[in-house]
Amino acid sequence: MTNLPRLYSGMQPSADSLHLGNYIGALLQWKELQSTHDAFFSVVDLHAITVAQDPAELREKTRRTAAQYIAAGIDPSASTLYVQSHVPAHAQLAWVLNTITGFGEASRMTQFKDKSARQGAEATSVGLFAYPVLMAADILLYDAEVVPVGDDQRQHVELTRDLAERFNSRYGDTFVVPQAMILKESARIYDLQNPESKMSKSAESGSGIVWLLDEPEVTRKKIMRAVTDTDGVVSFDRQGKPGISNLLVIYSALSGRSIESIELEYEGTGYGDFKKGLVEVVVDEFAPVRQRALDLFADPGELDRILAANADRASEIAESTLAKVYDRVGFLRRSR
Ligand code: TYM
Repeated sequence: MTNLPRLYSGMQPSADSLHLGNYIGALLQWKELQSTHDAFFSVVDLHAITVAQDPAELREKTRRTAAQYIAAGIDPSASTLYVQSHVPAHAQLAWVLNTITGFGEASRMTQFKDKSARQGAEATSVGLFAYPVLMAADILLYDAEVVPVGDDQRQHVELTRDLAERFNSRYGDTFVVPQAMILKESARIYDLQNPESKMSKSAESGSGIVWLLDEPEVTRKKIMRAVTDTDGVVSFDRQGKPGISNLLVIYSALSGRSIESIELEYEGTGYGDFKKGLVEVVVDEFAPVRQRALDLFADPGELDRILAANADRASEIAESTLAKVYDRVGFLRRSR
């Protein structure tokens, strides 16, 4: 047990590889914050089944996602890195929170509106509708104070705060009200082929997505072909030059350098040199992560043992919060 502030975050195991948006929007912060926080990082498989998944693939993607957290620098002996479905309290608390969530409130979630519009009413499940409530349960079970996420999760963390406050005022002080931690520029990384839309696992074409596990040559090609503009000046202008601005944000986030210093370095050089420089930065960052991930995939038994031990620690905390909640709402305690 530590006295460090609690932190919670997670990712869906919905692809074989995480992408550059996940890495910059979330993982980079996670890595930084794990030394100053008591951090919980989950692979949210319960969330993943809100859209259709192949069972064997889901199992594999769950392991692969956990392995990529570790490969990217999450230390599973310092942070609690576990699989959401290994801790039943998530689904149990989500049920209770469903009963204090307004139908209209859930209908206003923009991710739900986007996803359900894309899938059509027939394919849209109650699970997809209740997705943000399950996310609230994840966070509230652990008394998390901070939730480092990309910009697309902001509204879900706001809902989590509202639900925590509502429960506390109805049933007495129970939950810590968490705060989202969202970086300014790097919280939204855009598709390299379509720099007006977010880089996303569900994008129609894969050529604008840089996967963490892409081979270096594939990464190089994707970056060299990234959509830019015709004025040839490497400068940040989100509205006027979305392609170049996105590449500058990626360069800056991975190199730790300011956007101004990068603009200065490439003044007068054109886009080719700038893109080559970016390829180097991305490949230098990803190549060792990719190698560590491949090593971890080779020993699934060891990975499963790490996940089991971490799920034990998570369960202990989650069950104690859930017991308090059950008591507050008036469930009869089962006698021993
Ligand atoms: P998911 O799996 O869609 O994404 C994982 C994390 O990556 C961030 N992200 C991005 N950041 C910047 N640019 C992008 N293009 C980009 N795409 C994704 C996301 O913001 C997220 O931080 N609902 C969550 C998972 C979740 C969760 C939680 C998060 C479940 N329970 C509790 C925090 C706390 C999700 O679907 O993330």
